Amino acid sequence: MGVRIAVIGAGVMGADHARILGRELPGAELAVVCDADPARAEAVAAGAGAVRAATDPLAVIADRTVDAVLIASPDATHVPLTLAALAEGKPVLCEKPLAPAAAECRKVIAAETARGRRLVQTGFMRRFDPAYGEMKAALDAGRIGPALIFHCFHRNVAAPDWFDGRMAITNSAPHEFDIARWLLGDEFAAISVFRPGMADGSRPGAPVQIVAETSAGRLVNIEINVNAAYGYDVRGELVGESGLLSLRDPARVEVNSALARSTGLAADWRPRFAEAYRLQDAAWLASIGTGQPAGASAWDGYAAARIAEAGVQALAGGGPVLIAMADRPALYSS
Ligand SMILES: NC(=O)c1ccc[n+]([C@@H]2O[C@H](COP(=O)([O-])OP(=O)(O)OC[C@H]3O[C@@H](n4cnc5c(N)ncnc54)[C@H](O)[C@@H]3O)[C@@H](O)[C@H]2O)c1
Repeated sequence: MGVRIAVIGAGVMGADHARILGRELPGAELAVVCDADPARAEAVAAGAGAVRAATDPLAVIADRTVDAVLIASPDATHVPLTLAALAEGKPVLCEKPLAPAAAECRKVIAAETARGRRLVQTGFMRRFDPAYGEMKAALDAGRIGPALIFHCFHRNVAAPDWFDGRMAITNSAPHEFDIARWLLGDEFAAISVFRPGMADGSRPGAPVQIVAETSAGRLVNIEINVNAAYGYDVRGELVGESGLLSLRDPARVEVNSALARSTGLAADWRPRFAEAYRLQDAAWLASIGTGQPAGASAWDGYAAARIAEAGVQALAGGGPVLIAMADRPALYSS
């Protein structure tokens, strides 16, 4: 019998995780798909081959036939559901952000530290993306010398009206904050946020431009544009003392026709990061078996939320805003 897993939240991401766990990872048994919407829970459970569907996440977490929990419900539910799983001593893979507020993340850190064992993985799946992995390997091998500037571009086709500049920083940018911390092995020290002066600042989805300074004096330059219109597009360029590392366009096929050359763009993040989600879920599953934590920790979730909070402050009042981190508990030292 495999590890019996419950997926909580069966929307865009939950359905994807349910498919991966139910259909693609032999060591997993998809025990439950739970969603507040019963019809969605049933449909995703049936599609992914789950044993059953459910609507009450707390009952699912307490269920003795569930060994581990993947949380893919909305951001505001992450901390209460993660705390419930920790109270049961069950491993959790929680979608990013661990919480929009750093103080909420610290509740998870306190509960996990009290248990004295790492049980929480934060769903920063880019750490498992083969392209970012190659970028880190090349940097660590000294191929471009010491890193100086990391340019990040995060563009979505369109966001809903309620997805404003604050959410661009608390919901989208944490991917960039985490991958920059992981790649560079460096912490964010200060953050400034700008918006193009000619853009309608009152328009919720206007782009934000983040410039952060790290403790070691590097620059991280992040464009978040959730209404880029033309396609889902994530880019990264790492400038070193003696070279440049660039993420390549992941398109596999180029169309040459009618005197033009083109490649496709995805409508959202799932095609671009399909392999990263699968590798992330596989690493989480393996970590349950081996007891060796994988991926981003609750501390990494806290760090991204703390940077995001400072970013929201910088958006409102100008910057740079200095980023003070709490003391890191020994549980997260490796
Ligand atoms: N890692 C990534 O690249 C990535 C990409 C997109 C979204 N996300 C994150 O994944 C999470 C889900 O995003 P989504 O786009 O799938 O959202 P979604 O709105 O498509 O799905 C959320 C689902 O959760 C259900 N739900 C709401 N409250 C619930 C509760 N208390 N218990 C059980 N189910 C509940 C809703 O009915 C809905 O079906 C968010 O936290 C988001 O930030 C991560």
